[in-house]
Amino acid sequence: MVLRVAVINVYPVPPKSSRLIIRALKDKGVEVKYLPLQFIGLSVGEGSFSLQIGDKEIELDGGIVRGLGMISTIGQFYMRIAFLRFLELKGTYLMNPLDFLIISRNKLETLVRLYHKGIPVPFTFSSENIKYLYTVLREKGLKEFVLKPITGSRGYGTTLLKDPDVFYQIASLLLQNNIPPLVQRFVHIPQRDIRAFVIGDRVVASMYRYSNGCWKTNIAQGAIGVKTSLEPEVEELAIRSMQAMNLEYAGVDIAEENGRFYVLEVNSSPDFEGLMKATGIDIPRLLAEHFLMKLKK
Ligand SMILES: Nc1ncnc2c1ncn2[C@@H]1O[C@H](COP(=O)(O)OP(=O)(O)O)[C@@H](O)[C@H]1O
Ligand SMILES: [Mg+2]
Repeated sequence: MVLRVAVINVYPVPPKSSRLIIRALKDKGVEVKYLPLQFIGLSVGEGSFSLQIGDKEIELDGGIVRGLGMISTIGQFYMRIAFLRFLELKGTYLMNPLDFLIISRNKLETLVRLYHKGIPVPFTFSSENIKYLYTVLREKGLKEFVLKPITGSRGYGTTLLKDPDVFYQIASLLLQNNIPPLVQRFVHIPQRDIRAFVIGDRVVASMYRYSNGCWKTNIAQGAIGVKTSLEPEVEELAIRSMQAMNLEYAGVDIAEENGRFYVLEVNSSPDFEGLMKATGIDIPRLLAEHFLMKLKK
């Protein structure tokens, strides 16, 4: 049986990481298509039940979903989810699984799930109530704290603050615009954090990300990746974090402070070009192999 497989992303032109995965799948002899969510149409009801691209029906055995894209409105978000749900309901194996792809975009729920499973995360709080936020901040006496969006990536919007009243002003404006802030204790990392790339039940590659010209350690913020091996306890933390989020692969960000480790986030559609460059490890091939193994099960 010939497998019908796609790499799914949002944009008309596949980003580099999607192209690399497509190539890795082709190298495995798999016929693979690129499926841009922005070009898909769905119809349902009165005999119709189809997902189409152009005039072609989409029928897939499996898909690697490389993200839900930038979301401007909740409607756009729901539509993309419905497309992917359609596929899952029709028996398409999606990696990462849709429910958990959605959950992992939510930094706050991620922290709740991680901590619930006993995984250390930095002290964090969030509310739509400015009084709550301001009171917690004052009571905790945090000298430095991070304000970040509930959902986001690449360090965009993540801000380091020191003054509760600067926070008060910013948070008031955010809340007036119905944007809830997430506030987190600043972890005093030694100018680097750890990115562990987990596939299945193992860490396949890891690097330190050294900040460069910015306090943040995202590669997208100029950080420099340097290959490192991890202590078994840190590897285990990364694997448990991915599993706590029910994912098949993930980029786990871990902050280190005085010998303690805190998980900052679990990225369900992580970039990997920086990691490939730093480690020389062929991440797309490993992703393709894991995906095909799960698909054939
Ligand atoms: N609580 C924190 N303490 C110290 N640094 C942090 C903290 N939260 C985030 N950072 C820094 O900001 C970067 C971006 O934050 P993160 O929560 O991972 O969001 P994003 O999804 O945008 O990568 C992290 O890689 C880290 O360098
Ligand atoms: Mg991050």
